[in-house]
Amino acid sequence: MKQTRILFVCLGNICRSPMAEGVFRHVCEENGRGQDLVIDSAGTGGWHIGNPPDHRAIAAAAGRGIDISAQRARQVAGTDFQAFDHIIAMDEDNLETLLARAPEDTHSKVSLFLEGVPGIEEREVPDPYYGGEEGFDHALDLIEAASRALLARLP
Ligand code: 4NP
Repeated sequence: MKQTRILFVCLGNICRSPMAEGVFRHVCEENGRGQDLVIDSAGTGGWHIGNPPDHRAIAAAAGRGIDISAQRARQVAGTDFQAFDHIIAMDEDNLETLLARAPEDTHSKVSLFLEGVPGIEEREVPDPYYGGEEGFDHALDLIEAASRALLARLP
């Protein structure tokens, strides 16, 4: 069976997209869909390449029973636009950067994570990097809702 390949993207790949990768993988496994999907994350920026997620992201995810500590940051590569079926941005800036870098025929793969999620008014997962720990919990609430909606939409 062909696996569906999903790439989550934020700016640094140390806060939001690693949490999205971990939460979405957890939701897929909970629903018996773990084998159907290949899940990864990356940043539009390269400042944190090779680093583990921010300690606040690791702690917030651990608080929900999800271990993201083994992830390492990487930057979005040109080959990702062919390698993945869906490339999912956390905010409008990420979306704009991705679309500027994506070959025209891959634009339809690129989307905003919160767009069309039932019960969610926000369009962006806010960047929690410069704020307090509560920002990480709020980001996780949005990421959980969007992960369930994404899995429900996948064939
Ligand atoms: P992320 O958060 O995009 O959710 O990983 C950030 C992490 C680092 C920086 C910005 C945002 N930074 O400027 O270093």
